[in-house]
Amino acid sequence: MKNIFISGGAGYIGTHCVISLIKSGYSPIILDNFSSSHKSVIKKLQIISGKRVKFYNVDLRDKKKLRSIFKKHSCEIVIHCAGFKSVEKSIEKPISYFDNNIGSTLSLLECMKDQKIFKIIFSSSATVYNDSQPLPLKENSKIGKTQNPYGNTKYIIERILMDLAKNDSRWSISIARYFNPISSHESGLLKENSNGVPNNLIPYIIKVAQKKLPYLKVFGKNYKTKDGTCIRDYIHVTDLADGHLALLKNNKLKKGLNIYNFGTGKGSSVLEVIKAFEKQNKISIPYKYTKRRPGDVAVSYCDPKKAFKELNWKANFNLQNSLIDILK
Ligand code: WQD
Repeated sequence: MKNIFISGGAGYIGTHCVISLIKSGYSPIILDNFSSSHKSVIKKLQIISGKRVKFYNVDLRDKKKLRSIFKKHSCEIVIHCAGFKSVEKSIEKPISYFDNNIGSTLSLLECMKDQKIFKIIFSSSATVYNDSQPLPLKENSKIGKTQNPYGNTKYIIERILMDLAKNDSRWSISIARYFNPISSHESGLLKENSNGVPNNLIPYIIKVAQKKLPYLKVFGKNYKTKDGTCIRDYIHVTDLADGHLALLKNNKLKKGLNIYNFGTGKGSSVLEVIKAFEKQNKISIPYKYTKRRPGDVAVSYCDPKKAFKELNWKANFNLQNSLIDILK
């Protein structure tokens, strides 16, 4: 069985990657400090996959422990999903975001190098792309004018990886730029971490549907878009997880650094998401317009052609079927 380390493997994206990896005959080894997830998710992964799932409760900044784990397993690839991901919290606590996201990555890269593991897939984000540039966003679209500490950490880590690849030919680095991951595994066992205050659109809509919130706040209605609300590229998290498999299968030996957009290539407005959610779940979602949320860009969606051409990957779900039975 092919060992693959997956940092943040107990998180929203990481758990879905674990399921896809096991389905394809890999044996993922989870590295997670459970700061944004719960240990109970390991049992859920074992129920879904029917397999024992190896995991280590480890903070990537603990180099001693990380080195000892690397020594125990012969494994040549790391999928790096570990990282804090709330835009709002990053503004409240920038130092902890830089320390966690960048500090963890630097520690991981050093331990990988010492163990001669030079293949990494990094979980990046559409947030690194500059605002107001020609759409759809391509991998060579301009990046770097990130608007908040969370986005800055993703951009800075990309730059670190670009420098590594440029100065040390042993590295094989894939940067996966996720657009807006939504929904969850059909079993309903891998929900987004909903015990805290949500920080994304769909978890908020779900809270309204569950009557835990009286209505959805729509952040702004006067953007220059078809209905005045922001447009995003919503990709089913299972499609996103399968994108990592495609990277492993079709890209693993490629030296240097490669960047891929993982999105559907289609933009949907907030109002369109609400309508699709209502239709697919036969429920009404009350909403009220409020002021714009600082840092939001009006429109963001990708051109996913490169991943299709080089990795033979494309999203299978669309917005409508991503939202079917999401409440079950
Ligand atoms: C989507 C749209 C909001 C909530 C961020 C990160 C990205 C990725 C996903 C982490 C926006 C609107 C939202 C609400 C609303 N990373 N909205 N009312 O900001 O596009 O991307 O999260 O997971 O890296 O940048 O996603 O889901 O927060 O917002 O109107 O209650 O929904 O204004 O237009 P975003 P989001």
